[in-house]
Amino acid sequence: MRILHATSELYPLVKTGGLADVSAALGAAQRALGHDARVVLPGYPEVLAALAADATLLEQITEVGGFRGRILRGALRGVEMPAYVVDCPALYDRPGGPYLDASGHDYADNALRFAMLSRAAADLALGADHDYPPDVIHGHDWQTGLAPAYLAHSQAARPRSVHTIHNLAYQGVFSADIFPTLGLPEDAMQMEGVEYHGGVGFLKAALWYADALTTVSRTYAAEIQTSAFGLGLEGLLRGRRADLTGIVNGVDYGVWDPRVDPELPRRYGPDSLGGKLVAKAALRDRFGLGAARGPLFVAVARLTPDKGLDLVARAAEALGEFDAQLAILGTGDSGIEAQLLALASHDPSRVGFVQGYDEALAHVMQAGADVTLVPSRTEPCGLTQLYAMRYGSLPLVRRTGGLADTVVDVAAETLDRATGFVFDEPSPEALLGAMRRAASLFEQPCLWTQVQARAMANDFGWESAARRYLDVYSNRGDQRTCLERVLS
Ligand code: ADP
Ligand code: GLC
Repeated sequence: MRILHATSELYPLVKTGGLADVSAALGAAQRALGHDARVVLPGYPEVLAALAADATLLEQITEVGGFRGRILRGALRGVEMPAYVVDCPALYDRPGGPYLDASGHDYADNALRFAMLSRAAADLALGADHDYPPDVIHGHDWQTGLAPAYLAHSQAARPRSVHTIHNLAYQGVFSADIFPTLGLPEDAMQMEGVEYHGGVGFLKAALWYADALTTVSRTYAAEIQTSAFGLGLEGLLRGRRADLTGIVNGVDYGVWDPRVDPELPRRYGPDSLGGKLVAKAALRDRFGLGAARGPLFVAVARLTPDKGLDLVARAAEALGEFDAQLAILGTGDSGIEAQLLALASHDPSRVGFVQGYDEALAHVMQAGADVTLVPSRTEPCGLTQLYAMRYGSLPLVRRTGGLADTVVDVAAETLDRATGFVFDEPSPEALLGAMRRAASLFEQPCLWTQVQARAMANDFGWESAARRYLDVYSNRGDQRTCLERVLS
């Protein structure tokens, strides 16, 4: 099958979160199954710098809002699938991140930047590369949300479009003024189209036009059809529930496995955990923490209210009770950053905070941790809890979205299958209760190592998810037996 992924992030070139990891690894897993998966993404400076010198220029010129994009096809350094790069320096050649300028503000022209990406994806879907007419165009998140709209309004024969919601909180809503620049017909600007609360909704467009929809866990697929989690899109999602599938993300164990991880001071595996202690010592050093008897809790996250790190800041005041420590790496909301900075400066030998984005340190943190905290208020899937398990750090998560689907709580009746700690209420007290339970298990090395060994042996590799996407592409629905569904 020829599968074209359209994405705004791709590990290892452009990453602000899990979307980058998934975009790279899913396509690679599909190629490993014998399919011709490729990717189209914007020509940010880091992407053009990684593009092979012998890249081919396609004849197609993609036009949006008076901007012209060229499409280059070639290999990208560090990426395991052929890529199409949309070269439009006026929209993409600038310092800063993929969405925000160097001072942290959204680029004022994000609508056009991602309409260009969506349009280029649609052009490719319609055969811009004569050698590669895709069978499926698979878009990710709001940034490629207009691609199914362009396709639906084209007169030409088009491939099937599948769209994945990685996070409903980011919807790409813009003022109606941009509509005339998008190159869509007048009648697309209505409720049965791209219109959303009087403006233009990129994600809404995908939810309306794509042939099939997926999101990144079964629980989140159910949650987003409710008013508590649907963020205004629950009605539309309920209307499309027959076309919506929840598929939990996988892990690229070529990148996230302590046996092969080049970022670790010393590699290790389930049979010899010496390297884990070395990583823990390195982490204490890096965060200026002293020695302690209790567990080392870590968190690596974008600091948004959804991630719940403000709960950690409030719960952390009680760390001394069980002589535990806390190390956090993250960047984002300035209020949460300030809370964490204050916490670290109040008790520096117990709490450390590195403000920023540091891929290498994120790996060492999973390795050095005893417990990885993911106290999210909402979490479509979450990757850090999956990484934690492979590194022998027990995840401590809130029961929501993909966290609920991937971590089994340590409790009397689950001791033979538990892999971490789960709490329910999004409150510092509930979080602290789970941290206490973790600290108490930590004092029982025999039980701790049992749970740890099980977590490390867990297999969240991409193959089964990659196969489930193939079913969605071929519209085969959920082919598993009832029993398999219950067990998954
Ligand atoms: P989300 O996509 O919502 O941010 P995920 O758990 O799916 O959440 O993915 C987060 C990814 O981003 C992981 O690979 C994690 O290691 C990485 N990450 C998040 N924040 C940072 C940071 N400050 N520095 C390095 N890596 C980070
Ligand atoms: C989003 C979600 C996260 C998910 C990731 C990859 O950023 O917030 O839960 O793991 O996408 O699908």
